[in-house]
Amino acid sequence: MSINKNFATLLSLVTSKAAVASFKYIGKKDKNGADKAAVDVMRNELNNLDIDGEIVIGEGELDEAPMLYVGEKVGSGNGISLDIAVDPVEGTNFVANNLPGGMSILSVAKKGDLFNAPETYMDKIAYGSDIPKDCLDLDYSVKKNINNLADFKRVKTSELSVCILDRPRHKKIIEELKKLKVSIKYISDGDVSGALFVSNKKYLVDLFMGIGGGPEGVLAASALDAFNCKFQGRFLFSDDATKNRARKMGIKDFNKKYSLNEIVKGESIFCSTGITNSDIVKGVKFLNNMYETETLVTHKNNSINIVKNKIANT
Ligand code: FBP
Repeated sequence: MSINKNFATLLSLVTSKAAVASFKYIGKKDKNGADKAAVDVMRNELNNLDIDGEIVIGEGELDEAPMLYVGEKVGSGNGISLDIAVDPVEGTNFVANNLPGGMSILSVAKKGDLFNAPETYMDKIAYGSDIPKDCLDLDYSVKKNINNLADFKRVKTSELSVCILDRPRHKKIIEELKKLKVSIKYISDGDVSGALFVSNKKYLVDLFMGIGGGPEGVLAASALDAFNCKFQGRFLFSDDATKNRARKMGIKDFNKKYSLNEIVKGESIFCSTGITNSDIVKGVKFLNNMYETETLVTHKNNSINIVKNKIANT
């Protein structure tokens, strides 16, 4: 098995089957049930692949998660050695409440090519392929980033749109954006999609910013790499336990700002299957006793596709 188109298709089946498992929990107000169903299926499907895989972003550490924990080996152990990042349900609230945006996501890269970090928050910034890398920066003030972006695009700041998770921790950023009259696309959850909105002008988002999950940051970086978009992230290590875990993983500088290619090296494949509908992929459909899924599959330097799969109702 090597990282190629056939392998990408196989991986789209992994997230599709996990999405179908979770789909059965749509609107049941059971976040944990929806997540567990997807985790079980995703783990089973990964174990059926001829790979020597290791989970580097998963459901938590071994003491918190019995399955798909960070460090768990998956696959037959025979094939290519891979790092795997998984988020079996991204947007558990969306699935539990039957709202748009629930997805099942994974990303793979050759061993050593995906960033390995403890589950913690990450301060993130993502922007489109057309914008020069040095135009925006995580270390610039909101005002400087917005003004630089407006200058580059030759528009007024009021013509720009920023996507951000609607959280009290973002109060200052949001106040600043309002002062600059920027249009804000608030998202209640699901910041992998939030970051992906910068990949195509049709989503009408110029910039994604703010603090969200670190694992979601690594997954978003993998997809954005294929779109040649820009991404920076800084992990936020809040307590000693997380810092100790980070140290064990080889992280020395807790304030380091990572650029996209420090988070994802080499070629990676990213798959995101819709559980519920979203702007990016349609949700699972049940037709003629079969489940139909839609998956965004990106493969750096090779392809960006929407792959449709049919999954038997077993
Ligand atoms: P879950 O699917 O695990 O509930 O995560 C959803 C999510 O919105 C992520 O997309 C985001 O990165 C993170 O939660 C933000 O965390 P918080 O809800 O603590 O602000």
